[in-house]
Amino acid sequence: MRSLLPLLLCAGMAQAGETLDPDALSRLVHQDCGSCHGLTLKGGLGPDLRSENLSHHTPESLKSVILDGIPDTAMPPWRPLMSEAEADWVARYLLKAEAP
Ligand code: HEC
Repeated sequence: MRSLLPLLLCAGMAQAGETLDPDALSRLVHQDCGSCHGLTLKGGLGPDLRSENLSHHTPESLKSVILDGIPDTAMPPWRPLMSEAEADWVARYLLKAEAP
């Protein structure tokens, strides 16, 4: 009985969506987003994603672009691939609002 406890705790955390992995997420930003926006995010097929070029965005508006993409453009929706909490992290990371 006692040995089940850690397992239950882990399941609970995953359900709450609180398990963010900053290393994996920043890799995703530079590799996956970078495949279109440039490895240094200065722009490529997609526009420059450095914070100085995102001043027209709030964390909320950026998060919705990330989750839903931009219709009729190459910018894909990431909702199938990341949670709201992860998209929120990425938005803040890009804005450098709370970059770890
Ligand atoms: C398949 C290519 C592709 C990938 C992968 C991609 N994007 Fe984009 N993204 C684009 C394109 C193209 C645009 C410009 C769309 C337009 O014409 O408005 C864009 C636009 C954006 C914008 C709007 C910028 C602005 O000034 O409003 C944001 C923010 C953005 N992408 C973030 C991301 C993030 C974060 C990721 C990774 C999670 C990502 N993109 C992955 C192609 C891509």
